Amino acid sequence: MGTKEDSSYGSLKSIKRAVLVEVGGVHLTNDSAENWDTLWGFKARPDDILISTYPKAGTTWIQEIVDMVQQEGDPHKCARAPIYERMPFLDMFPPEPIPAGVSKAESMPSPRTLKTHLPAQLIPPSFWEQNCKIIYVARNAKDNAVSYFHFHRMNQGMPEPGTWDQFLENFLTGKVAWGSWLDHVCGWWEAKDRHPILYLFYEDMKEDPAREIHKVAQFLGIDLQESVLNKTVQHTAFESMKANPMANYSTLPSFIMDQAVSPFMRAGTVGNWKKQFTIAQSEQLDHICAPKLQKSGLTFRYQLEA
Ligand code: A3P
Repeated sequence: MGTKEDSSYGSLKSIKRAVLVEVGGVHLTNDSAENWDTLWGFKARPDDILISTYPKAGTTWIQEIVDMVQQEGDPHKCARAPIYERMPFLDMFPPEPIPAGVSKAESMPSPRTLKTHLPAQLIPPSFWEQNCKIIYVARNAKDNAVSYFHFHRMNQGMPEPGTWDQFLENFLTGKVAWGSWLDHVCGWWEAKDRHPILYLFYEDMKEDPAREIHKVAQFLGIDLQESVLNKTVQHTAFESMKANPMANYSTLPSFIMDQAVSPFMRAGTVGNWKKQFTIAQSEQLDHICAPKLQKSGLTFRYQLEA
């Protein structure tokens, strides 16, 4: 899988929208659920880095940052393949002949950087056993929900989103792929006290990318030169990534992701939710999330100061 002309799609000309199936009380797409034993049995290696996020929290952004830091700020090395080839997505089991994320990971030499959207309690146990470093990115629920809605519209493999109102209802009740946003961000927040997890926020990355890139390098034990930092900031800015075919998913055919419906690199901001939410919907979300967030001590920003 690499370019639109790539023969690895074989005769595949369309994909089916997923349906949701519960695994351990969490809604997952049917392909993950059907391959659950394989996923759960995945063998992590001690030097694996795992990038974990709720979908649309800034996964691709942190992936590109991590790759730039690992490649000493060399954008040519980061252009070696699309992001989904450089860092296999473990919970994805696409139709034949596209290889599953776990198969790609298994055939990859170490050190590997891998991606997942699984909630903390569903991570293959070998990641904990091997004490792997994990980077988690959380994004405020409102921007996250809007981004996820538009992603459902354009990604032909996601379940049908319905209208925005219907989608938001499902998002708030956890009846979307990878389950409840609230449980996800809180579960990983608790897990960070027991495991080597760097917990980042999309809003912080937007506010001060250099500061957050520093945290990433420090966590990975990489000595970050000033020039590498500057190149990483530049290379991973929204406009750069939007124009980068190795990061913007334009290498996937439109029967998988139809970027004419909504581009993968859509808005890339904090506060875009205000264009989609009604005041009542915003208040409803606050009301639902507040008790659990307060209990956990987690706080989110829904806009950045000007
Ligand atoms: P929007 O839909 O709000 O624009 P993921 O990679 O987890 O699927 O997340 C995709 C979201 O992150 C999209 O949000 C996308 O635009 C945003 N994003 C991707 N790269 C970014 C960057 N470099 N800076 C800011 N936002 C970015």
